[in-house]
Amino acid sequence: MIENTVERLHRIRQNEANSHIDVYTHEKLYDSDTWLKKPIKTVQDLMSSFSGYKELRVLDLGSGVGRNSIYIAESFQGEICSIDCVDILDVAIEILEKNAAEHNVGNRIKGIVKAIEDFHITEDSYDLILAVSALEHIDSERHFTDKLSEISQGIRDGGIVCLVINSEVTEIDSATEKVFGAKL
Ligand SMILES: C[S@@+](CC[C@H](N)C(=O)[O-])C[C@H]1O[C@@H](n2cnc3c(N)ncnc32)[C@H](O)[C@@H]1O
Repeated sequence: MIENTVERLHRIRQNEANSHIDVYTHEKLYDSDTWLKKPIKTVQDLMSSFSGYKELRVLDLGSGVGRNSIYIAESFQGEICSIDCVDILDVAIEILEKNAAEHNVGNRIKGIVKAIEDFHITEDSYDLILAVSALEHIDSERHFTDKLSEISQGIRDGGIVCLVINSEVTEIDSATEKVFGAKL
């Protein structure tokens, strides 16, 4: 049976979701030999930029189980910190909320089960917008560019946008050698 493009995309997305669920349900945050071992260095380095802030509002798109957000919630020394964590997987948000409670930052973290494509970013709302290994999962190029412009509207003056995107994937049809994957 020949797989069409829609079926192929569905299969790839399902495999990605399964591999995330596998890691999230078998590995413990910050106590694992996988990528859940620690927050990314860029996020660790960014925190000093907010040292004078009394209030910090953060949006974490494709948050997973809180690898970066829980670190931010624990590190921020100001009084008010609220982090909106958006992920398409309900399992991820369920574990994120457990992790936040275990790390005593449950009151700083809000889990939202939603596709990034469907989460509307309100204008001028966040001091930090993060998307770590997440925007490459958006379902179309148009939704991707729409989300970039929403991000640029959603960040407050002086805020920081941190986007980490895996872009080294190039897909080549082995029969025709036609290149499909465009680097973002
Ligand atoms: C590689 S993980 C990174 C998780 C987290 N940002 C981190 O650095 O630990 C990608 C995450 O994006 C989520 N994801 C994938 N596609 C998504 C989408 N369209 N909308 C929201 N989340 C999505 C996955 O469920 C997964 O938790």
